[in-house]
Amino acid sequence: MSDNRFSRRSYLAMLGAGATLAASAPAAPAPAGDADRARRMRWWHEAKFGMFIHWGLYSVLGRHEWAMEEEGIPVPEYEQLAKRFTPQPNSARAWAKLARKAGQKYMVMTTKHHEGFCLFDTKLTSYCAPKQACGRDLVREYVEAARAEGLRVGFYHSLMDWHHPDGARCAQDEAARRRFVDYIHGQIRELLTNYGKIDVLWYDVSWPLDAQGWESERMNEMVFKLQPDIVVNNRNGLPGDFSTPEQHIHAEESGRAWESCMTMNDSWGYQRADDNWKSAKTVIRNLSTCANGGGNYLLNIGPKPDGSIPEESVRILSAVGQWMDRNGATIYDSEPCQPSNSVFANFTRKGKTLYIHVYFWPGDTVAIGGLQAKVVSARLLASGKKVEFEQEQFRVRFKGLPATAPDEPVTVIAAECDAEPTQNMDLIRTQRPRT
Ligand code: GLC
Repeated sequence: MSDNRFSRRSYLAMLGAGATLAASAPAAPAPAGDADRARRMRWWHEAKFGMFIHWGLYSVLGRHEWAMEEEGIPVPEYEQLAKRFTPQPNSARAWAKLARKAGQKYMVMTTKHHEGFCLFDTKLTSYCAPKQACGRDLVREYVEAARAEGLRVGFYHSLMDWHHPDGARCAQDEAARRRFVDYIHGQIRELLTNYGKIDVLWYDVSWPLDAQGWESERMNEMVFKLQPDIVVNNRNGLPGDFSTPEQHIHAEESGRAWESCMTMNDSWGYQRADDNWKSAKTVIRNLSTCANGGGNYLLNIGPKPDGSIPEESVRILSAVGQWMDRNGATIYDSEPCQPSNSVFANFTRKGKTLYIHVYFWPGDTVAIGGLQAKVVSARLLASGKKVEFEQEQFRVRFKGLPATAPDEPVTVIAAECDAEPTQNMDLIRTQRPRT
């Protein structure tokens, strides 16, 4: 990690190897023992779906949150953006309302991204929203908004800092490292002291220091002392409580907790030209794929500089929310499910109930091969309508279904089984009689 050629691309490639990162990092400190972790993580596992928010001076540029680095913008030029970042008061209320309507149970907002501009009131720099043109503590507004909607509150905080004078030289200069580590530890202390109970701390990019350089063990100890119920991710060089596959879904095989974070188009921060939006169907498929593997889905919005949410994001999240109103029970608190995905459906599970999330509706009959439990009854989840079925050794067929999908964009069939449903596709390939 102390590679000076660090770039966004190399970081993404490294995150792709998330499991390796977690496995090679030193062991977690004592306060994060297994029983304590299970207690702290309970709500998080039940929640399954959260909203990520990337907001900062880069929103004014509207050219992605990495614009400062990718375009080589000089620091004094970039600092001028602080004069133009004057969002509408309490913009976060609309985010929190949308998150609740979408069925998201927690929020994670950038308190400081790599650009170094702090959205919160800090004594450690004047490069922060309350002391610049904005004149308000945007983190406080966010925390209050999330709580008002009954949502859990998370803070994203970038360790890497392109603005702080010691942010790069700290790798070679011990006095600089001392100042910079004290600065970042100090900011985390402020964030976890001044805003009441915080539920998630989401570190990001530890360049140019490793866990030792960051004194990450001491960092996490401070965090758990200030917030005994909090959960922390793995991006300060330690494994933390959960892994963070980025822009892809990768279930941890070890049973370790994980959360896939993803953009709704291709950018985290507001990028006015990025029109590569995911459909509501894709978002729902991703959410159920995460739930299938026992993971969470943290889906991003990149508000505009005035705090408003891009229209496409509102449209997509509203559609997802309508679907969650009818089908959310198949996601929240679901358990890891061995039948993973087929070519037309995903599966989630609660106890002996299998939820078949059909995203490419085949018409009259939905068939599943290799199911190892006996189906006892089945129904269309949204309407509660009973579904007829026939089951033999290799296949179960749900029959007499409508020609077009009865629920859009994904129809759920709930199948009650006599045991925990598993699937054996090998059986079909090797044992299905051949003539
Ligand atoms: C990467 C990017 C960043 C984004 C983050 C979200 O670290 O550097 O811009 O905030 O991922 O996971």
